[in-house]
Amino acid sequence: MAGASPHSRGVALIGSGSAQAAQVISNNQLGLRVDTSDEWIQSRTGISTRRVSSPDQRLSDLASDAGRSALAMAGWSAESLDLVLLATSTPDDLFGTAPAVQAALGATNAVAFDLTAACSGFLFSLVTAAQYLRTGSMRRALVIGADQLSRFVDWDDRRSCVLFGDGAGAVAIEAADDDGLLGFLLRSDGSRGGVLNLPALDSDEVLAADARHRQGGYRPIEMNGQEVYKFAVREVPAVLQDLLERCAVGPESIDWLLLHQANQRILDAVADRFAIPRPKVLSNLAHYGNTSAATIPLVLDEAVRDGRVRSGHLLASSGFGAGLSWGAALFRWQGPA
Ligand code: COA
Repeated sequence: MAGASPHSRGVALIGSGSAQAAQVISNNQLGLRVDTSDEWIQSRTGISTRRVSSPDQRLSDLASDAGRSALAMAGWSAESLDLVLLATSTPDDLFGTAPAVQAALGATNAVAFDLTAACSGFLFSLVTAAQYLRTGSMRRALVIGADQLSRFVDWDDRRSCVLFGDGAGAVAIEAADDDGLLGFLLRSDGSRGGVLNLPALDSDEVLAADARHRQGGYRPIEMNGQEVYKFAVREVPAVLQDLLERCAVGPESIDWLLLHQANQRILDAVADRFAIPRPKVLSNLAHYGNTSAATIPLVLDEAVRDGRVRSGHLLASSGFGAGLSWGAALFRWQGPA
């Protein structure tokens, strides 16, 4: 773990990458399994296809591929990394999947650990990694958001299964004099957490005479869609507004609105609240659905690679989801032009 210069108190975002799950599943395919239709799903969510991992595709495969691609864009060797931070709610191993990613990348000098904050996980991880860089204790970090919610969706529950997909995205960040992370706000409210859960199994078994135990494991995702929707359209504009005021930045200065991709109607509602024109709203929901911790770096990487997001552009980002958890960050992209 290399120490940064005591003058390096800023954070520069300079590389991105992403990786896709192997299988494309259309709305019409889901319509053969549950009572739904392409028209219903598209009009309520904006989703037309999602990607689902093949049975042998591990989370660490997706995360490593995304990370490798971000390292290549940044022009860094894996050995130069001090930190691999993996945002995920669906690790291959509950003890942590980041070390497997560290090994796959060959990031032999990096400490690696997981961070779980559901769909806010990437944003929370970006901010967490930035703190190590700001204090000067680390110089280079790879922040990865990766999830395979397909493994925890009830594919017979039409109210939730149409929303989710798998994927991974990554961002390479470095300590720098020129600070690209203008500000952030993170929020949690566990008292409202019951509207979106991936709960532990709750059945007990006999262990021995006079002793019972509960076996580990999880039930499929349980969601109150309407309540989650109301939460998102209330809290996301509020936290973004708060952040913009604290940073003294007006919405007109934002080049891109980079929101967690949960529902096109949520993206549109937030954009309308700030009068941000639709072409400035990054969206790839149509092709991926909600990939949880992966959505923000995934859509960012697409926009960087197709030349929409360019060096110097200002992005207002917000993540939100289970917990409940939400937050916002304002940053300047400083990757290759
Ligand atoms: N296909 C067809 N009909 C469906 C359906 C589907 N996939 N899912 C639900 N319906 C039905 C419901 O059963 C209900 O029928 P009913 O009136 O006969 O009871 C009707 O459609 C309306 O359901 P409702 O839940 O009111 O729909 P909605 O407009 O709120 O849309 C969501 C549902 C899930 C798309 C929407 O609430 C949403 O996007 N919420 C946020 C979810 C989210 O983003 N979660 C992750 C956050 S990180």
